[in-house]
Amino acid sequence: RPLVVAIDGPAASGKSSTAKWVARELGLRHVDSGSLYRAATAAALRTEPESARWTEASVLAAAAPIHLVPGETTFHPHLGDEDLEFVIRGKDVTSHVSQVAQMPAVRAWVNRQVQATAEGHPIVVDGRDMGTAVFPQARVKVFLIADPWERARRRLVQRLQRAPEEAEIAAEVDALTQRDAKDEAQTQQASDAVLIDTTYLTQEEQVERIVALARA
Ligand code: C5P
Repeated sequence: RPLVVAIDGPAASGKSSTAKWVARELGLRHVDSGSLYRAATAAALRTEPESARWTEASVLAAAAPIHLVPGETTFHPHLGDEDLEFVIRGKDVTSHVSQVAQMPAVRAWVNRQVQATAEGHPIVVDGRDMGTAVFPQARVKVFLIADPWERARRRLVQRLQRAPEEAEIAAEVDALTQRDAKDEAQTQQASDAVLIDTTYLTQEEQVERIVALARA
């Protein structure tokens, strides 16, 4: 089995930050598949700001110049020469990305790029369907879940760099729950994935568990 560590789970379940840390511990490269869906969305928004007009073909055409470039800790999506890593975390992209992620041709495009990063290089990859659609043979498969309130709180701490208020958390729970609903069809827990509920775990504990699975 290829040394692929596949980490899947819903929005803000801590996949990417955990995956980066696991990759560092194991000396592997990290790939964030969501960054490609986000980059395709950013490219589509630039080409046609009116998302109602997007078609699978127009999104694919806009995304064609995107490629993953290896950085120090993770791959960054570039559009031609431009590093999109900052742009893709914006609100506009986040609110449109699920629409793009439902397009089968876009999913095939993302899957090919992600699989290419694993050729000859062991990777830690995170997303929604890495352990099912993309790397069914992955050596380690993990599915991360956490209570929505805790996911929202962590996301806000990261974004605001302070303790969020209850009303802020409640609004973020709504946003996350809506995105989960839109992503439901794309999110698949592999039958052989290890389910980890991180609600009461520190990030270090999550990382230790996954590293232990990879070393077993
Ligand atoms: O993980 P992240 O929240 O950055 O992913 C952004 C979006 O990309 C998700 O909301 C989902 O629509 C899509 N996605 C997906 N399949 C993946 C990874 C991400 O559909 N494997």
